[in-house]
Amino acid sequence: MSNQEVFFKWTDEYSVHIKTIDDQHKELVNILNRLFVAVSLREGDKVIAGILDALMSYTQTHFALEERLLKQAKYKDFDAHKEEHRKLLEQLDQLCKKHLMEEKPIYFEMLSFLKRWLKEHIQGVDILYSDDLRQAGFSTTAWEQAANAEFSKMSDSKKWWELWKAA
Ligand SMILES: [Fe+2]
Repeated sequence: MSNQEVFFKWTDEYSVHIKTIDDQHKELVNILNRLFVAVSLREGDKVIAGILDALMSYTQTHFALEERLLKQAKYKDFDAHKEEHRKLLEQLDQLCKKHLMEEKPIYFEMLSFLKRWLKEHIQGVDILYSDDLRQAGFSTTAWEQAANAEFSKMSDSKKWWELWKAA
């Protein structure tokens, strides 16, 4: 993928200063970029559906892990943050249903929506908990180790992961 074709270019302005969270966000951006290429090249519904499935699964896992961190840290805005995650998954689900019912591709609508959502969520909401955790002196080391172990276990066992890596 050449630089010109990158749909969502990761830069340090998206960092929340917690390496494992940044790594997960970067992987989400990678999947989004891969979906963009697949849609642009009209690679076919099977490939696109596989990448979309990876995007959904990865997002769900990332949200669950992030929520676990916020709970461990007794983050004051945990409920509101969790609600943001729930709403995004619901919106994604609605976009998928719309796609099926209207029988027309809505991938570009989905891509631009996700790009905007990710940027706004990382820079507007995720950064708030990361600042809060740092100010409270909460160490993320134990959570990062557990989260990384979970992801490497998942990459060995989940079919969607293999599909997306091979796409
Ligand atoms: Fe979040």
